[in-house]
Amino acid sequence: MPVVRGKVIEPLFTAEQIAERNLAIAAEIATRPANDLLVIAILKGSFIFAADLLRALHDVGLAPEVEFITLSSYGVGTVSQGVRVVKDIDSDVKDRDVLLIDDILESGRTLRFAKEMLYERGARSVSIAVLLDKRVKRKEDLEADYVGFECPDYFVVGYGMDVAYAFRELPFVGVVKGDA
Ligand code: IMP
Ligand code: MG
Repeated sequence: MPVVRGKVIEPLFTAEQIAERNLAIAAEIATRPANDLLVIAILKGSFIFAADLLRALHDVGLAPEVEFITLSSYGVGTVSQGVRVVKDIDSDVKDRDVLLIDDILESGRTLRFAKEMLYERGARSVSIAVLLDKRVKRKEDLEADYVGFECPDYFVVGYGMDVAYAFRELPFVGVVKGDA
């Protein structure tokens, strides 16, 4: 098993598996007609997935505009949780077909907040692509339109995702198993 900086990391989804899913998702997105497609990547966790999915979209002939939004959850603990915009997009979403990209769909709070906000701003449609779907953790009635993999209920790292700011750079998705 790979050892990264003294930690054993068990690969859950390999770089090859992820690349294959990205191509399949891009092909699926290309079958749905979009008017003036705007891709919005939710930072930070989605940055690698978004970069790879965008290149896969190029391969199937799509050339969307790309934006980034930084969202953050607050009230973790016993208080009811909310989501806030830390850094907003610059573009106007009115009448546009938006594709939101995130790393993991878990409770659904982040993506529900983002989707509702974009509809309030006048988006024509908002669809969602996530690399991982942790379905057992869902709290909101929300589904992604495009999913890379169903994810078991482990805390995962790599391919953009971190634990305490570490391991975002790993080319695969894995689970930290402990010290080597
Ligand atoms: P939720 O769907 O609003 O609960 O939030 C999902 C967000 O929590 C994701 O965008 C990630 O940033 C973060 N997250 C959830 N599970 C994991 C994990 O296993 N590893 C790293 N980040 C995670
Ligand atoms: Mg996130």
